[in-house]
Amino acid sequence: MTRYARITGTGSCLPPRRLTNADMAARLAERGIETSDDWIVERTGIRARHFVDEGVNASDLAVEAARHALAAAGITAADVDLIVVATSTPDMVFPSTATIVQHKLGVAGCPAFDVQAVCSGFIYALTVADAMIRAGGVHRALVIGAEVFSRLLDFNDRTTCVLFGDGAGAVVLEASAEPGILATDIHADGKHTDILCVPGHVAGGEVLGSPLLRMDGQAVFKLAVGVLEQTARASLEKAGRKPEDIDWLIPHQANIRIMQGTARKLRLGMDKVIVTVDEHGNTSAASIPLALDHGVRSGRIQAGQTLMLEGVGGGFTWGSVLLDF
Ligand code: UT7
Repeated sequence: MTRYARITGTGSCLPPRRLTNADMAARLAERGIETSDDWIVERTGIRARHFVDEGVNASDLAVEAARHALAAAGITAADVDLIVVATSTPDMVFPSTATIVQHKLGVAGCPAFDVQAVCSGFIYALTVADAMIRAGGVHRALVIGAEVFSRLLDFNDRTTCVLFGDGAGAVVLEASAEPGILATDIHADGKHTDILCVPGHVAGGEVLGSPLLRMDGQAVFKLAVGVLEQTARASLEKAGRKPEDIDWLIPHQANIRIMQGTARKLRLGMDKVIVTVDEHGNTSAASIPLALDHGVRSGRIQAGQTLMLEGVGGGFTWGSVLLDF
């Protein structure tokens, strides 16, 4: 009997502090930097983002998202035998955010580790958890994307600071005789490190290099549309499916124009794309599970539908997961 991994519950968490584009424009104006709601909406589709307050970490958002996903799956944290957290904004250098999440959920013993693939992190984490479930050792996994990108933003750089937000999304993935995840496809190309990075590192009690995000937006944009089409087609081919079989495309939420370009290349209407970038901004590894949960809780995503999840981000990394929900 073929063993599959199926999503049985989704959950998410947004910090309550919501900043509109007007709020960002006012904040930047204090520094003598100009931006506008019109520019941000037209170039990105973003209208608002959520930022954590001081003292709130990725693990706090992850735990709340996980609790919602566990409740939706009808299980408790004690039933889980794997925790994977995708994050580029961990609570600490070490231990992993996943172990902190495990402790905050009040459980111990099961393996827990982080995956670091920036905005593709959730796709990588889901791919790893799927493989571990299909291999037979794991029955129920919590797979979480959680980020506090507000901590990495340079508020003197208008080309990046208006783009990102904080949040978390989670799924419960369970072993099943029915699919489930149909195909996964992940890639990286390290030669593009410089176009999207936070170059600083900790050494000798200091942070050496800048601890703030920098991005060549146009270079990322061009690469993103190409690889998102490629990886979607690769997952479809592995599963013997076609673009028209996709009920919902759930892409990484970085820029509405990237999503429109990807949908166009796959010949899918925007009515088949879950869009949350307008309200969340780019939440990196959290963006796909956040969008998935919003799609589910709004009633658009229904059991039995075919979903294409796909991400792209720093590394450069990219990938997709095709699944029957
Ligand atoms: O999560 C990982 C994946 N990340 C992404 O997918 C991001 C991909 N890139 C993008 O989404 C877009 O490239 C951006 C949104 C970052 C930028 O959009 P763009 O259409 O490529 O704009 P641009 O960089 O070509 O800038 C156009 C103009 C420039 O002014 P000049 O040189 O034409 O006078 C910028 O200085 O817009 C200016 N500009 C702004 N103006 C007002 C840049 N940022 C802002 C701003 N407000 N916030």
